[in-house]
Amino acid sequence: MKNLLIMGAPGAGKGTQASLIKNEYQIAHISTGDMFREAMSNQTPVGLEAKKYIDNGLLVPDTITVKLVEERLQKDDCKNGFLLDGFPRNISQAEALDKMLASSGIKLSGVINIQTDDLVLIDRIVGRRTCPVCKEGYHITSKKPKVENVCDKCGATLVQRADDNVETVSNRLKVYHEQTAPVLDYYKKQGLVIDVDGMQDINDVFKEITKKLGDNK
Ligand code: AP5
Ligand code: MG
Ligand code: ZN
Repeated sequence: MKNLLIMGAPGAGKGTQASLIKNEYQIAHISTGDMFREAMSNQTPVGLEAKKYIDNGLLVPDTITVKLVEERLQKDDCKNGFLLDGFPRNISQAEALDKMLASSGIKLSGVINIQTDDLVLIDRIVGRRTCPVCKEGYHITSKKPKVENVCDKCGATLVQRADDNVETVSNRLKVYHEQTAPVLDYYKKQGLVIDVDGMQDINDVFKEITKKLGDNK
């Protein structure tokens, strides 16, 4: 059973790899970013609060985020393993996760770290398109849908994320370097980090991940 984290800068390919890993290992994919976007589109109290931060490329306060993850990890589909994408994003979230897992007797199997140069991230983010219905991700050059702007899987019209603009991206990158990169050192000390070269093609990144994770499902 695999209880994994996937880390990397904004646009590094966390969501893209997470959906491949989820299918391969049959584990729950938990993306705090996706959960906040769902809450925003439903205009729930959490969504309305989160929007103030997300629109500016800032982290949503830990009190909100930690509670969301804690509730999500208790759902049945996490019993066969999970992949957390976008959480923890600062040291205090990492400590909160340790407490949550310890209280349920769960151990992390590894932390996948997708390494990229900052230079490619703006293009990946600005060119990203997403299916609003089935959530499949695309890119206008590196992962084109068969028909322009139409989801291959369900036929819906693709959309662009509201926070995928050049101004917000630079804030997201700054937050990543200042607050999230230290989380990697936190897990390095525990010997959990699995570095992966995120500058390769999507399929080659996935091959490297599965090779390093091993067959043990
Ligand atoms: P979140 O949704 O997590 O956004 P992010 O970290 O900025 O990361 P992205 O989703 O933008 O990138 P990704 O790494 O998933 O890349 P993708 O696979 O899509 O968070 C959004 C916001 O929510 C945060 O800013 C914050 O406000 C809030 N939030 C979320 N979690 C929080 C937390 N824990 N605490 C507080 N606040 C939180 O790929 C990008 C594009 O590149 C795609 O188009 C893809 O097709 C393409 N691509 C992927 N891999 C490759 C490749 N190898 N080669 C070429 N193209 C590629
Ligand atoms: Mg993502
Ligand atoms: Zn779709």
